[in-house]
Amino acid sequence: MFSKDVYINRREKLRHSIKDGIALFLGNPDAPMNCPDNIYHYRQDSNFLYFFGLDHPGFAGVCDIDNNKDYIFGNDVDIDDIIWMGPQESVKDQSAEVGVQATSPFSDLNKFIADAMAAGRKIHFLPVYRAENKILLEDLVGVKPADIKAHVSEELIKAIVALREIKEPCEIKELERAAEAGYKIHVKAMKMAHEGVYEREIAGELEAISLREGGMFSFPAIISKRGETLHNHAHGNLLKNGDLLLVDCGAETDTHYASDNTRTIPVGGRFTKKQKDVYEIVLAANNKGTALTRPGVDYRSIHLEVCKVIVSGLKELGLMKGDVNAAVTAGAHALFMPHGLGHMMGLDVHDMEDLGEDYVGYDDKIQRSIQFGTANLRLGKELKPGFVITNEPGIYFIPALIDKFHKENKFLDFVNYDKVNEYRDFGGIRLEDDLLVTETGCQLIGKRIPITVEEVENTVLS
Ligand code: GLY
Ligand code: MN
Repeated sequence: MFSKDVYINRREKLRHSIKDGIALFLGNPDAPMNCPDNIYHYRQDSNFLYFFGLDHPGFAGVCDIDNNKDYIFGNDVDIDDIIWMGPQESVKDQSAEVGVQATSPFSDLNKFIADAMAAGRKIHFLPVYRAENKILLEDLVGVKPADIKAHVSEELIKAIVALREIKEPCEIKELERAAEAGYKIHVKAMKMAHEGVYEREIAGELEAISLREGGMFSFPAIISKRGETLHNHAHGNLLKNGDLLLVDCGAETDTHYASDNTRTIPVGGRFTKKQKDVYEIVLAANNKGTALTRPGVDYRSIHLEVCKVIVSGLKELGLMKGDVNAAVTAGAHALFMPHGLGHMMGLDVHDMEDLGEDYVGYDDKIQRSIQFGTANLRLGKELKPGFVITNEPGIYFIPALIDKFHKENKFLDFVNYDKVNEYRDFGGIRLEDDLLVTETGCQLIGKRIPITVEEVENTVLS
């Protein structure tokens, strides 16, 4: 947890950007896995963490905009809780640590909200992603789960995005800590990428690093030699020399700040010529993304410039043809890179996307493209100093997509399908770094994980 001034200042800023009413923040409850007492590892809601800091289930926070007052609703533990969970600080004491004096039992929240609604006051609430909180919200404000989306407060969402997208120095320190754990994770993966090892053995060792550093993985890890499946969470394959192992993995700190990096590793320590050729294109694309990242530039234009690097490289290998700009304008690159260049990162690995991806990644000036591939770009808007973003280009050979596009005669002016078919078993390569946008450009969060062909090969063989 940060010092209480951090939370007081954040709530103060929030109050200045909301006209009136009450901003309601539902903390996360525990989530049962297969019976009520057998629960998933607890993860607090990130908006609650950002404004109210308390990392325990059973809380709600309220910013009363009209009366300039904050509240925390939660229950003190009773003797049964102490027997099973140990002693806990009182809600009053915990709340004082984040600068909130007004506390009440959780059951008082219903009357508090009902009174405010009866007085005609606006209740601002956010999109809800936990079923338990959807039911709670219906109890509190009478909006059915299916109707929440239509009733959320756009004013509150926009105010939160404007605050959370600019990382404070104390947050950057936490992100650097997450990056240190991320570095250890990826170097460990490289050292383990040898013939005869199962992906799950690597997954176990990597998660252990994250846990030892104080937090969980920041998202379900992708550790697979079938890297062409973008979010492949299965870890059952046995590695063989010549495989490419894609590791997309990050750690959360004990304060819940994330890292998110991807490296692609030659099992056994040597890239084949074919792998190296494609790897160098992805590396050039990643370097281009970093070189172009600076304030005042929109990330979609950087995404498209990076796609041009990919098309140029694939042209040199004979997989693509024709005019590079025209190929990217037509969206032909998306056969090989159907995802976007990156996303915001912070307390969430895809920061604030619970609030709605378009509120975070787009604005009035830049709206989401509807073109296949570019439509998946999570962050398209103009960059500002203080943004923390990922830069994660990739090249994938997805047989089903190759066959679909070929059958539809798509991009015949830009794709050499005969040549592409020689890569059907290739897999995928992605290289992902985390960047802080500065006043003049950008800087890497943390030390760069080995990334050149030589660095990666040497690390595998070390
Ligand atoms: N690291 C997984 C993703 O960005 O989607
Ligand atoms: Mn990512």
